[in-house]
Amino acid sequence: MTAVLTLGVPEMDADHEILEAMFDRVEATADGDLAALFGEIDAEVRDHFAREETLIDAHDLPIAHCHKTQHALLLGEFDAARAVIAAGDAVKIRRLIGEVLRELVAGHVASVDLVTSRFLSGNLGAEAFGNLRLPAE
Ligand SMILES: [Fe+2]
Repeated sequence: MTAVLTLGVPEMDADHEILEAMFDRVEATADGDLAALFGEIDAEVRDHFAREETLIDAHDLPIAHCHKTQHALLLGEFDAARAVIAAGDAVKIRRLIGEVLRELVAGHVASVDLVTSRFLSGNLGAEAFGNLRLPAE
């Protein structure tokens, strides 16, 4: 089991705990219920990313573009998972949700979410990001 990192930003940590608890359910979920569990996780991930992006915008995170792009790429993986789920192979579905998607989310938390949390909690100043902002339009 992958333990999700605690970041010290309550809004982010609360959401990540909810997602972790959902991923924890994969192992005990019957084959026939995996698609429904995927639907729950997929909806929660989308809602979570939207909440996180509101937080990011409210604090003018210098790497907002990078963070949002990572969210979009992850949601692309969730979109792609629908074909595997529709094919109905429970072994593949279980591995996809319980290992692949779970690790992708955990990796996101441990990288771009971690950097974001340091900025949001005042432990990393905007100067640390140098010229990483997209050019002004
Ligand atoms: Fe994120």
